[in-house]
Amino acid sequence: MALENKLGLTDSAMLECEEERISKKRAAKLFENGILDTLEAGKFSALKAIHKYLFEEIYSFAGEIRTVNIAKGNFRFVPVMYLGAALDNIDKMPQATFDEIVEKYVEMNIAHPFREGNGRSMRIWLDLILKKELCSLDDNAYA
Ligand SMILES: Nc1ncnc2c1ncn2[C@@H]1O[C@H](COP(=O)(O)OP(=O)(O)O)[C@@H](O)[C@H]1O
Ligand SMILES: [Mg+2]
Repeated sequence: MALENKLGLTDSAMLECEEERISKKRAAKLFENGILDTLEAGKFSALKAIHKYLFEEIYSFAGEIRTVNIAKGNFRFVPVMYLGAALDNIDKMPQATFDEIVEKYVEMNIAHPFREGNGRSMRIWLDLILKKELCSLDDNAYA
């Protein structure tokens, strides 16, 4: 059975296909329209806005924290009960070096705040942090 969606699709393969098409189209728009520049790199608020933008045509939970526990393979992501606290802690994690940014991304993956679409939205979120923090390091090097 497919995850409940706004497209009215019940076949999971069809949903996967449409989801890929629509979220790729939305991702391209996100990079073109300047919205990314308005987000605060490294904050959950930025990830929430990215997720909402990618998936709002598909899922009613776009940009909303999940209300169920989820796992992939043998790995259980942060239980719903601790998710709010985990996201507050991640917001406060440093992001000045490459290693700190990777550590922050890993913690966000462990949190997996949304019911679906975490990988896609988190990679755009990561890209934003890398650009903001490491490009400004570069500027300093040449100052
Ligand atoms: N066994 C695992 N342990 C930890 N993280 C995983 C595991 N399997 C997949 N992931 C992460 O979860 C992401 C998939 O989560 P999901 O919410 O389905 O996002 P998407 O739908 O965008 O792929 C992958 O991109 C990867 O980052
Ligand atoms: Mg998925």
